[in-house]
Amino acid sequence: MAVLENAAVKKYLRMCTDGWLQGWHERNGGNLTYRMTREEAEFCREDFSFAGSWHRMGVTAGNLRGEYFLTTGTGKFFRNMEEDPQHNAGIVEINEEGNAWRIVWGLENGGTPTSEFPSHFLNHSVRKEATNGECRLIYHAHPANLIALTYLLPLTAKDFTRTLWQSATECPVVFPGGVGVVPWMVPGKEEVAVATSRLMREYDAVVWAHHGLFVSGPDFDTTFGLMHTIEKGAQICILALSAGGGKLRQTITGANLRAIAKDFGITLREEFLED
Ligand code: 13P
Ligand code: ZN
Repeated sequence: MAVLENAAVKKYLRMCTDGWLQGWHERNGGNLTYRMTREEAEFCREDFSFAGSWHRMGVTAGNLRGEYFLTTGTGKFFRNMEEDPQHNAGIVEINEEGNAWRIVWGLENGGTPTSEFPSHFLNHSVRKEATNGECRLIYHAHPANLIALTYLLPLTAKDFTRTLWQSATECPVVFPGGVGVVPWMVPGKEEVAVATSRLMREYDAVVWAHHGLFVSGPDFDTTFGLMHTIEKGAQICILALSAGGGKLRQTITGANLRAIAKDFGITLREEFLED
């Protein structure tokens, strides 16, 4: 079976297991999509069936016409992806109008792509454009500490970015562009898809209040690493606040952040450095 021998598919499944082992995917929580390269889709083509019907998404992206995406299935558990990929994940093709998908492999026995596919799809469109085609992954997870922070901090990009940058020295280096924040919204709907993709023009990570996190990236390691680093920063913040009874004795200062930026040759968003 060509699909399961493909290197990208193997990395995709390993990433699902890694996310499960981190505790970010209770039950069917979270979803992962990967925009395949032409070569990968060609390699897998012998396993594809083009008999499936097209399903309109309610959203359109002209720059994703004819693309192939690996996607987790709605209601499927990350815990089971690697063991039984054909039933829990699948590959969909996008039509020539850029507004519908059809399953060409996997999602056997009536499965369909994640309910967040419209969000993933619009985010792919925006990130593909913003990165000159480099971005290939959109990853949504439910990391507990980051979600906990959405009960404690004002729901702004500045508050989240700054708090996370100050929670671990590596944070500003890993996500110098910061994180966007969308307020609580009903999941799986066009409204949250549009709100997230608007922020993804500027940010490669977007927090969903009281729900989870969306990240994007060019490859599996970078994308998983971004999710991991943001959640680690949130965990340190929660640990310090809990242990300190809500008070911090000291922190990484704005001047410290500027010093990191200078030494590492990175540009931090200036508006997030001001007190
Ligand atoms: P799916 O099972 O449809 O992927 O939904 C899980 C989830 O996290 C919704 O936000
Ligand atoms: Zn979710």
